[in-house]
Amino acid sequence: MRTLFVLCVAMSAACVATAQVEDFDSIKLHTLKNESGMTVQVTNYGAIITSILVPDREGNMADVALGYSRVEDYINAVDKPYFGAVVGRYGNRIANAEFSLDGKAYSLLQNNGENHLHGGAIGFDKVVWNVVAYEAPSSIKLSYTAKDKEEGYPGNLELTVTYSLKEDNSLVVRYQATTDRPTPVNVTQHTYFNLKGEGEGTILDHELMLNAKRYTPVDEGLIPTGEMPEVQGTPFDFTIAKPIGRDIELDHEQLRYGLGYDHNWVLEKTANKNNMTLAARVHEPTSGRVLEIHTTEPGVQFYCGNFLDGRLIGKSGKPYVHRGGFCLETQHFPDSPNQPNFPSTILRPGEKYDSQTVFRFSVAK
Ligand code: BGC
Repeated sequence: MRTLFVLCVAMSAACVATAQVEDFDSIKLHTLKNESGMTVQVTNYGAIITSILVPDREGNMADVALGYSRVEDYINAVDKPYFGAVVGRYGNRIANAEFSLDGKAYSLLQNNGENHLHGGAIGFDKVVWNVVAYEAPSSIKLSYTAKDKEEGYPGNLELTVTYSLKEDNSLVVRYQATTDRPTPVNVTQHTYFNLKGEGEGTILDHELMLNAKRYTPVDEGLIPTGEMPEVQGTPFDFTIAKPIGRDIELDHEQLRYGLGYDHNWVLEKTANKNNMTLAARVHEPTSGRVLEIHTTEPGVQFYCGNFLDGRLIGKSGKPYVHRGGFCLETQHFPDSPNQPNFPSTILRPGEKYDSQTVFRFSVAK
């Protein structure tokens, strides 16, 4: 029988004190594995994906997810990279850390300049989730109840995330939630990928295709202006695959604001079975590894690790250099609670939030 359950979380009194995590003992690491050997590890701290082992075209396995091997490194990481975590209650930014809902004003924490980012000081990435079901070796369901007024948001939100590993090397991520008061909800997965392997240099040579003809440009604080221009003729055009680094240094105001790519693309919805749309395909030429993402969400935040600078040392002892990983965060658009033209992110009592994203790994010869 395979060893499927691994507990390798370091525990020390000092660590508990710094981390302010009350039920440290309940933090565990769980392993998902399929017949072909793809392995995904998940901890119930932040619902974090700590590693993703997938083969290259020769069958050699590499861990393609940036992260740490000790929970205290996640808790204490400088510059809060959100490696592998589920972010929320609202992934990405809310302008001026405020919004109105049904005529009532809500004030959130300004944790990113004057704006609110990834759910506040203690977002879903920094709490201990409950393990609802661990169906070894293929799936794990975690739950978290965010209290009314937690981080300033209205409503008790009952949220689950289920990670399921399939035999075709797909990792299916499903979020389900209900609330007892109207509230904005936008949860997403914040894994940083490097398809050469974590710590193996930059991702600038990865070839990226985004299934999007439009994107949402931002102001200096990375808040969308509300416009949705076409990407054609701009460095934001990934409709045909190109290396991430090809246009990244071009002189373009939006690239200056993002310090590179850190924007939301508007996905071309081609509704099919389960309402899933192709969002992105990434190919790394030396290993042959391919990542394809499908989602029910209308947008994807492509962030190419512009804030990594080599100071964070990853799980295998290698520094995570500038642009050493990319995130493709399937989502509703940033600042939607303040942008009437964007698809709504408001969940109301009686409604069911149900969002799904599939990360499928393969190889190109
Ligand atoms: C945001 C970036 C941010 C990063 C880490 C991404 O989702 O778009 O602006 O720096 O998360 O917080």
